[in-house]
Amino acid sequence: MTEATEKKVMLSGIQPSGALHLGNYLGAIRNWVERTDEFDNYYFLADLHTLTVRQVPADLRRHTLELLASYIACGLDPEKNTLFIQSHVPAHAELGWVLNCYTMFGELSRMTQFKDKSAKHADNINGGLFTYPCLMAADILLYQPDYVPVGEDQKQHVELTRNVAQRFNNLYGEVFKVPEPYIPKTGARVMSLNDPASKMSKSIPEGCVFLLDEPDDIRRKFKRAVTDSDTERCVRYDPEHKPGVSNLMSIYAACTGKSLADIEAEFDGQGYGAFKPAVGDAVIETLRPIREETRRILADKAYLEDVYRAGAEKAARVAGRTLRKVYKKVGLVAR
Ligand code: TYM
Repeated sequence: MTEATEKKVMLSGIQPSGALHLGNYLGAIRNWVERTDEFDNYYFLADLHTLTVRQVPADLRRHTLELLASYIACGLDPEKNTLFIQSHVPAHAELGWVLNCYTMFGELSRMTQFKDKSAKHADNINGGLFTYPCLMAADILLYQPDYVPVGEDQKQHVELTRNVAQRFNNLYGEVFKVPEPYIPKTGARVMSLNDPASKMSKSIPEGCVFLLDEPDDIRRKFKRAVTDSDTERCVRYDPEHKPGVSNLMSIYAACTGKSLADIEAEFDGQGYGAFKPAVGDAVIETLRPIREETRRILADKAYLEDVYRAGAEKAARVAGRTLRKVYKKVGLVAR
């Protein structure tokens, strides 16, 4: 891994709060893998973020390693991508604190994820849940990235990051690069299979396809996928009136590379009976190599440890540079 590079920088992360699902893959990881050679890449496991919701400690540890194995299995070569665990680089928490002091209560109150999660976890609306976007801004700004590839639901957090970076730069000079969100054309918002009004997420497991699901489970989930109650029963893209079928079409398009028009033509006159299993099969084939490779990599704990150690070392060097600059600018005495 070389550090001196002219390449632009990409950075993103996923919370290891459960198994990875198709939305994470189509909305985020696949987009990262496609651009690996063009960029200097930082992809991390946002383990500190998961603490905003109660976790079972042993599960969190297991999911973290599983997620790292899946990153690699999805095609993120550790030689070309700096892969690391957020908590291994203390600069995240340190800059997170500083940015807490440059982010406004009103801004944080407007975050959709905060509103959703506080409704879902009404008994545990903790401070971390509220200031979550400040830690996320720190995750990003430490590495001075040009692009942050995320699904649609994280766009608001990246925009807040831009605002905080600009606010800080206005006060202290050009400390942070102001990054752009980078959202895929297909798969940016994969919806739940049993409720097309909600995004696919591990909190609704029946409507969620996990990367490590067996083919039979995937087939069953697609067979039961909610289609629409219109009488037309044809495969036509119309997210407003046919959200269930449109979601399945987007998944099929993302997995096969076919356009929506091609898909309409392919299933013309066939109804949903032929379409739903076809989507299931396309997903099974997309996920098969990832599932098999994740299992293989997971069995080699020593290799995973080498990867996250090397990743943290490189990440800490880069992050440390930005943090020192920030501390100096705000007036902290250098150690
Ligand atoms: P998280 O862990 O919820 O999701 C990880 C990535 O998957 C995308 N995603 C989806 N895309 C399409 N359809 C869906 N149904 C779907 N569900 C999830 C998300 O948009 C995201 O790209 N706060 C972040 C993690 C994070 C982060 C960061 C991301 C922490 N620090 C710094 C980028 C940069 C989160 O909770 O993502």
